[in-house]
Amino acid sequence: MAGSVLITGAGSGIGLATARLLAARGYRVHGGVRKGEDAERLRALGVEPLLLDVTREEDLLRAREALREKGLFGLVANAGVAVAGPLELVPPSAFRQALEVNLLGVHATVQAFLPLLRGGRGRVVLMGSVSGLLALPLMGPYAASKFALEALADALRVELKPFGVRVILIEPGSVATPIWERSERAAEGYLLPPPSGTEEVYGRYLEVARRMARRNARRGLPPERVAEAVLHALESPRPRARYLVARRERAWQTLFLRLLPTPLRDQLLARALGV
Ligand SMILES: NC(=O)c1ccc[n+]([C@@H]2O[C@H](COP(=O)([O-])OP(=O)(O)OC[C@H]3O[C@@H](n4cnc5c(N)ncnc54)[C@H](OP(=O)(O)O)[C@@H]3O)[C@@H](O)[C@H]2O)c1
Repeated sequence: MAGSVLITGAGSGIGLATARLLAARGYRVHGGVRKGEDAERLRALGVEPLLLDVTREEDLLRAREALREKGLFGLVANAGVAVAGPLELVPPSAFRQALEVNLLGVHATVQAFLPLLRGGRGRVVLMGSVSGLLALPLMGPYAASKFALEALADALRVELKPFGVRVILIEPGSVATPIWERSERAAEGYLLPPPSGTEEVYGRYLEVARRMARRNARRGLPPERVAEAVLHALESPRPRARYLVARRERAWQTLFLRLLPTPLRDQLLARALGV
């Protein structure tokens, strides 16, 4: 069934692993990147790079024109950023960036490429997260963007049914990619200073956030596991609406915590995070 697939955010992590896997399986892969060195890396893998920032309409239109002749079977809306931190210390500009990339960028990307996908009764694969199922403290902006993506996926899936375009949401748990280090570094730049009298609590929270990010980077699943799920979403004759891709204990924890009464869930989360 190999055809032409566009992956956004293909320069690193899950996007890169997916580009590598799909190219090896005979797909014609177009990888959205924002940096010249990422374009070179993709070319070496047999992937055709496209300069594409999903928050820039002109990039999306240019990319669509570049692909118009070649057609498109699959769109993997993968580009994303992890904006984290205690909500009182996250400036609106940083929160807005999470929504711009992880939510509005996905909508704009899908909108731009649907005319090409519709012709081939193609597939849209959206990169959600377990953070779209359970909001952990200190991950508020990221979780808000991924919860919203769940809503986008649910609406889009039904709306596109008459056109034969399937919409599949992948929900990875922690994956060992550069996103964690990037998020930590970015937060150092944008987080507001804690108001007077809150330094001790927020100091503790920030230490917990750092530990969580480092543990996720160290113990996360290999990105290739998520790439396999994307391949399945593109190839299965009857793909599911969503695929949770996580270590078994993380998957069960997430599903179990969602079912608990809120006060109990809050208590367990606070204890697990040491906050
Ligand atoms: N890692 C995890 O634990 C995990 C878990 C669940 C879901 N996810 C999701 O998986 C996706 C990929 O993340 P990853 O873990 O592979 O992290 P990553 O290695 O940091 O990859 C994110 C990619 O998105 C690109 N990107 C960021 N802003 C963009 C924009 N405005 N336009 C186009 N591309 C942009 C980045 O490009 P630049 O290098 O140019 O910034 C990068 O290539 C994200 O949607 C993330 O939320 C990750």
